[in-house]
Amino acid sequence: MPAQMAFSGRFPATRLRRLRQSDWMRRLTAEQQISPDDFIWPLFVSEPADAGPVPSMPGVLRHDEDGLLRACEQALEAGIPCIALFPYVPEALKTTTCDEAVNPDNVICRSVRAVKQRFPELGVMCDVALDPFNADGHDGLVAGEEVLNDETVEVLVRQALVQAEAGCDLQGPSDMMDGRIGALRSALDKAGHQRLPIVAYAAKFASTFYAPFRDAVGSGASLKGDKKTYQLSPGNRAEALREVALDVAEGADLLMVKPGLPYLDVLREVKDAFALPTFAYHVSGEYAMLKAAARKGWLDNDRAVLESLICFKRAGADAVLTYAALEAAHLLAS
Ligand code: PBG
Repeated sequence: MPAQMAFSGRFPATRLRRLRQSDWMRRLTAEQQISPDDFIWPLFVSEPADAGPVPSMPGVLRHDEDGLLRACEQALEAGIPCIALFPYVPEALKTTTCDEAVNPDNVICRSVRAVKQRFPELGVMCDVALDPFNADGHDGLVAGEEVLNDETVEVLVRQALVQAEAGCDLQGPSDMMDGRIGALRSALDKAGHQRLPIVAYAAKFASTFYAPFRDAVGSGASLKGDKKTYQLSPGNRAEALREVALDVAEGADLLMVKPGLPYLDVLREVKDAFALPTFAYHVSGEYAMLKAAARKGWLDNDRAVLESLICFKRAGADAVLTYAALEAAHLLAS
């Protein structure tokens, strides 16, 4: 029931400002808290060496193995439970068959092994999608004008298996092919990975807010066309709920809504309708907007970061993937 239905207060007997007068009272009546426990920190790892900063994402690096391990140490010190790995591979390793995605020694698998060996207590999430390894820039295999579905799912399954063998703790298929959650689940189970959870990027929209991420993984330049044949149209709420229902039926353990702030209504509905642990992705373009405005002095960076993150919690997120995870954790500790 909406909260206002149970509320029958009337002015002047009721003055809601009574409870907002002091910091101590506002703390007592706060409905939401955020803590580093709520954050997943996406990190870029690069092949063969440190590919340097991402111009459209101030403060975000593409790490070599040493840099990655340093970042993981910082995450643990700040109380962040989990990182998410994304690859940057040079053009020479990209093919239309995405062979590098299923190479058990690719930069993701090597990174997973290095992190888990050094920091077994840190959660490591891997992205299951072909775009960083695809000469066509798409999340799936391309034939002519078409992004193939079932053929792509077969490659995604092989990609998921090499990541699972490398020891990742959580897999996030972000590709939006039909049927991939069920296919991954049964393949993982058959291979003995029954305990590996899947976070389905269930409601992923075809968003322009991914542009800085595509700079970071180097998939933007090669992308032919757009991703509208597999990602959701930004205005489609009912279709998003159907996507989520299918992923739940296929065995998703956790759900993700993406992008974040422009899609908080979808997040709330998904959380209420399915009651699964639900993550939100505060995506690269949202991060870039915030940093750009802060750099110009148009927004207060620290307050904007914390306000954004608490709004995700209010809308029902159990955790948020955010490039601002480390700085937010430091702000919360100060
Ligand atoms: C692709 C993928 C994308 C992101 C995560 N995985 C981009 C896309 O769909 O083009 C975007 C994340 C971000 O913008 O921060 N599989």
